This record gives sequence, C-alpha cells and structure tokens, in this order.
Amino acid sequence: MRHFLRDDDLTPREQTAVLEMTATLRADRFALRPLDGPRSVAVIFDKPTLRTQVSFVTAIVELGGYPMVVDGNLAKIGVRESISDVANVLGRQMTAIVWRTHAQSRIEEMAAVAGVPVINALTDSYHPCQVLADLATVAQHRGGVGALAGQTLAYVGDGSNNMAHSYLLGGATAGMHVRIGCPGIFVPDPRIVADATARAAQTGGSVTVLDDRDQTLAGADVVATDTWVSMGREDEAAQREAPFVPFRLDAGGMALAAPDAIVLHCLPAYRGKEVTAEVLDGPQSVIWDEAENRLHAQKAILAFLLDNV
Ligand code: NVA
Repeated sequence: MRHFLRDDDLTPREQTAVLEMTATLRADRFALRPLDGPRSVAVIFDKPTLRTQVSFVTAIVELGGYPMVVDGNLAKIGVRESISDVANVLGRQMTAIVWRTHAQSRIEEMAAVAGVPVINALTDSYHPCQVLADLATVAQHRGGVGALAGQTLAYVGDGSNNMAHSYLLGGATAGMHVRIGCPGIFVPDPRIVADATARAAQTGGSVTVLDDRDQTLAGADVVATDTWVSMGREDEAAQREAPFVPFRLDAGGMALAAPDAIVLHCLPAYRGKEVTAEVLDGPQSVIWDEAENRLHAQKAILAFLLDNV
C-alpha cells in the first residue's frame, strides 16, 4: 500500500513518472479513468480550503469517481472518535482518502490503519500536492520534466512552514538546488533539512538554508514565497510581521534572480506582505498555471497510487 504523506514518499524516478503523467493529463484531461464505477474518494478538511477542495473534487470526478467531501468540523476526527476508528470505517468504503489536517502524526496514523491510499492535502509539516504542482509548473515553463534537475529554486519567507519543508524534499527529489532564505527564528526543521540533503546527494541537487534574502535570490531560476502566517498561526500574526519584512519578495529582489526567473506562490497571497502586487501580478509570475496544475498533478498522484496498491 502506497501513500503520499510527504514529498520524498516518491522516489526520484517515481516523481518523474508522476510529473510526466501530469503533463499528459494537462494535454488530455480525460486520458485516465481509474475511479470508474464511480469509486468514492474521501476528501476531508480540518483546515480552510479553496484550491485544494476545488482541484481534488474536479480531479476525482474527471478520473471517473465520486468525491465524498467531509467537513472536519463535523467529523471531529480524533475528538468524537479515534483516528484509527475513522480509518477503519473509511477504509471499508472509500478507494482512497485525501486529508488536510494539523499534525503530521494524524495522517500517519490514518495511513497506518485505513488499508487504502492516503494523500496529504496539507499538514502543519508538509504540502506535497502543492509542490508536485509547482514542479509541474516549472517543467511546463522550462521545456519538460527533464529540465528540472539543476534548476535553482529560491524560497524566501517562513522557512519553518509546510511549503518550505515540501520544497526542500520535493525539490531535492527533482535534483534541484533548493535555497531557503528565512529569519533565524523561522528555520526549517533540521531533520527535514537532513532528509532533503540525503535525497539531494542521490539526485545531484543541493539544499541551502540562508538568513539573507538577497543571497537566496541571487541568480535563481525559480522564485517562491508563501504567507508569513500559516493556517493555525493567526494568533501570532502581529509578532510575525517584523522578522519577515526583510524577506519580502519585491522588484528589487527579483532583479537579483535570473532575468527569466519565474515566480511561484501557492496562494492565498497577501499582497504587500510576503510579496508585492507588482511581482505577484507581474510578467514573471506563473501563479495561475501553478493553481491549474494542482488539478493535473493530483489526478496523476491519485492514478499512481491506485496503480500501486
Ligand atoms: N503555509 C500555508 C499554505 C497555504 C496553502 C498554510 O499552511 O496556511
């Protein structure tokens, strides 16, 4: 039984195959129907969502299945009943489970018990479906999946959040040079940096954590940022502003990157905070391709997991 709980659950070869399939599905949306029946996939949200709900529901329908959207506030998984009891119930009826939740340990417990593939639709620690879509977007703009290896991806902002961690693992798996530029109090989890470094050693990529925005962005092929206040951290919004201001992505920062650098943002974006409107809405931004690629990438990972049960 295969799951997609963190980016390095796919080997480099498997990630390449999923990204190739993503491009195929972008060109031919109905090329695969692994959920014909329709077979049901549970899509559960313990945190807010827009893109993830829309793209998973569309993905499951276009693969021939039925998306069973579950409101985590009603289900109260782990409160009303244990995660393992929920996993047993869902596993008897669902073909796969997609879950956006808090601690990574929750989705690991679901995967250990459910008996069907489980996909991480964002946890506090990782957002692997987003980074799969991001890699697909880089491939789309750089002449294919084969062009990913060797690209420098510079992420500036909150180095301790799910996007930074997923860029480290997913980018290293793709053979990219991943740079994280962040304040010293918001650095990535050192265990994840170690895992990404080990993966990069296999792929020819590299991993660097810097506390200087300009050094991070210098010569980068791909530039990314994310909110300074991730879901669940809203109470810290005021204290989180000052340390991140020097890491804002603005036109001055973009001038340091490669002249043809592309800009990614997983959205929601806060213009004037982590990124200026000029950059986010400017000619180097590919955020709408990136948002569309959530659909294609999630179809590809669902098809991959269903093929490997
Ligand atoms: N780091 C953000 C990503 C949102 C898609 C958060 O967790 O809120």
